[in-house]
Amino acid sequence: MTHQLTFRGATIPAEPGQSVAAALIAAGITDWRTTRRGGRPRGLFCGIGVCFDCLITVDGLPDQRACLVAAADGMRLGDAEPGADLADAGRTGGEDAARA
Ligand code: FES
Repeated sequence: MTHQLTFRGATIPAEPGQSVAAALIAAGITDWRTTRRGGRPRGLFCGIGVCFDCLITVDGLPDQRACLVAAADGMRLGDAEPGADLADAGRTGGEDAARA
């Protein structure tokens, strides 16, 4: 059974066992936050939990690595308010160094 996730007010499908990042990428969403310095887009980079580029808020819990979190039915990604800007969903101090 396909799971239904919510991101920026849109419904995103996810297959069982798929990560949050994989579901977002499959939906054509390649970035889901921006860096604090420079506002550069970030999404999936390493895909294995090392770089922390993919941080996102999941069901109100900030700074989750989208590449490691398994998608679950009804999951809310990013801010709780539909249509809210999710640019600051993930926060980390070292993200600029990863792709500088
Ligand atoms: S993409 Fe590198 S930690 Fe998730």
